[in-house]
Amino acid sequence: MAEINLSKVCKRFGDVSVIEDMDLHIKEGEFMVLVGPSGCGKSTTLRMIAGLEEISDGQMHIGEKLVNNLPPKDRDVAMVFQSYALYPHMTVRENVSFGLKVRKIPKEEIDKSVAEAARILGLEELLDRKPKALSGGQRQRVALGRAIVRNPSVFLFDEPLSNLDAELRVQMRAEISKLQKRLGTTSVYVTHDQVEAMTMGHRITLMCKGDIMQVGTPLELYETPANLFTARFIGTPPMNVIYGEIAESGNHISAEGLTLPLEGDLAGLGVRHRGKKVAVGIRPENVTGARADESGGLVFEGEAGVVEPLGHEIITHVALGEGHIVAKLPPHPIPSIGDTVRLKVLPQKLHLFDTETEQRLV
Ligand SMILES: Nc1ncnc2c1ncn2[C@@H]1O[C@H](COP(=O)(O)OP(=O)(O)OP(=O)(O)O)[C@@H](O)[C@H]1O
Ligand SMILES: [Mg+2]
Repeated sequence: MAEINLSKVCKRFGDVSVIEDMDLHIKEGEFMVLVGPSGCGKSTTLRMIAGLEEISDGQMHIGEKLVNNLPPKDRDVAMVFQSYALYPHMTVRENVSFGLKVRKIPKEEIDKSVAEAARILGLEELLDRKPKALSGGQRQRVALGRAIVRNPSVFLFDEPLSNLDAELRVQMRAEISKLQKRLGTTSVYVTHDQVEAMTMGHRITLMCKGDIMQVGTPLELYETPANLFTARFIGTPPMNVIYGEIAESGNHISAEGLTLPLEGDLAGLGVRHRGKKVAVGIRPENVTGARADESGGLVFEGEAGVVEPLGHEIITHVALGEGHIVAKLPPHPIPSIGDTVRLKVLPQKLHLFDTETEQRLV
């Protein structure tokens, strides 16, 4: 186990700057997920931690050690890739033990480690097979086994589940989380899938174009997104964003014909930002069906566009102003496209952002 510290880390490929002044602290024993859209620099960050990419500037520590110029083999990290990177001509046993053999570990010790890893990962029956005779999930387990036997201070995962089908992905997600909990090894896990990030990470680092947008627990990112980017990235379907203005009285927002009261926790916010133009974030789970006898500023009617019945709920897009709002409705009745739907916003759950800086208002 070891903590990882990035301080003002930069990465440039020639003239192109990909990561700039990144500060990140990953705690000892923590499961940290790096998430963000394609090209935001997740793999580059992970590869810099692994030592597979040199850092252009700044300092990187693993434990007490400054590792800027330390080659990968001396960093005590083990990496698991999306491609698994297994040796096709070797059996599972040989694949798992290869790294230890190279390090000239005594045979008895290797056999013990391989047996232990095989037991943890359910690979005992498969040890004499070659990778081509394994399913995707089994290959991924072999790749994990190879990482585990090295007993490293840090595990690094780069999208290890993206080649698996949906069901297996859910299963492996749970297995990796359990494994990490049991071993307690500091882990950095790269994914572009926010559900993986939410379900696996102790904390999440959300990146965009080489910058860190927010670092926090999954619930912190969901409940108090620090900016519009985070608000839209975390949660499915994504948060609705409508534009409006806080009243001079500070006690409500007018947006797209709605009158959204600023009460409870939001009351102070309204007073501090009287008259301000705001982006209002409303999660689909906080827009629900309104009864015929309900009315007022939080209720609106619109035409249903997309209607997606999922069994336990219906995701419905309903026209509002120039755009639309996405709601999660109860499973019955299922509206038809073009039907008029009555919706109600739950007022306690509004997220307010500055329209210019896109930062959360406090
Ligand atoms: N060797 C390289 N030379 C030049 N640019 C590179 C190189 N490697 C990566 N990049 C650029 O750095 C940026 C970040 O790449 P990176 O692979 O870290 O993204 P990512 O977040 O892992 O994306 P993905 O989800 O698609 O894997 C991209 O714009 C990419 O084109
Ligand atoms: Mg990548």
